[in-house]
Amino acid sequence: MDYSKLKIPNHVAIILDGNGRWAKERGMSRSAGHKAGFDNLVELSKHVFKTGVKTLSVYAFSTENFKRSKEEVSFLMNLFKSKFKEYAVELKKENIKVVFSGGRYRPVSDTLLKIIDECEEMTKDCTGGILNICFNYGSHLEIVEAFKRIHKDINDGKISEDDINEDMIYHYMFQDLDPVDFMIRTSGELRLSNFMLYQVSYAEFYFPKTYFPDFNNDEFDKALVEYTKRDRRFGAIDYSK
Ligand code: IPE
Ligand code: IPE
Ligand code: MG
Repeated sequence: MDYSKLKIPNHVAIILDGNGRWAKERGMSRSAGHKAGFDNLVELSKHVFKTGVKTLSVYAFSTENFKRSKEEVSFLMNLFKSKFKEYAVELKKENIKVVFSGGRYRPVSDTLLKIIDECEEMTKDCTGGILNICFNYGSHLEIVEAFKRIHKDINDGKISEDDINEDMIYHYMFQDLDPVDFMIRTSGELRLSNFMLYQVSYAEFYFPKTYFPDFNNDEFDKALVEYTKRDRRFGAIDYSK
């Protein structure tokens, strides 16, 4: 693929969906689907940065996912516990900084919270791109926490009401990242499921039917071809056309 002929989004967000259905189609357990999804994520994310994308946000576990069975939640927590560190090591080799967005408290275990801190610490000086892992993440939670921090900073005299504007709100999110340019949700579901509601306000959307474990590097390149065709007007009109 000649990436110089494509428009490359600065910030891509992916809702990693369809692990369970991928496994079911193969007569495998949902856990096997999650494992395949995670393995795919490691390969895919390295590829995404090679295409020139600067920030990649991935939805790995939502605040709502705690509604799933004890077995499934515990399998996922153990998977993250055993894989996050190794994943961060891989990304460090590619000079990618790893950050996490989401609630850093119970029901997430102390062991996992410590691993998350270590992944961030280990990669904090990397400059080749940012991988934002959204874990125990909910956009409503993020916005509520941002409101609270803004309120506190006003009370503490650090900022005044006049400092509140559209850009500064990004600084109060879990991570201070650019707006999302391209939002991909695999598996054919057509919803956001509480993902980055503020940040996707002008994103282009893409909903491939592919289940996440099969959403490989070629599928991502196809997504980039589709993104290249989009005419992003941001409300304006190009009268010369
Ligand atoms: C996405 O796959 C992974 C997580 C939400 C953790 P799902 O587990 O939602 O897979 P489906 O949607 O049931 O196929
Ligand atoms: C969204 O997928 C959350 C993640 C991918 C982590 P879900 O599969 O949990 O979302 P719903 O239940 O279909 O909305
Ligand atoms: Mg799902």
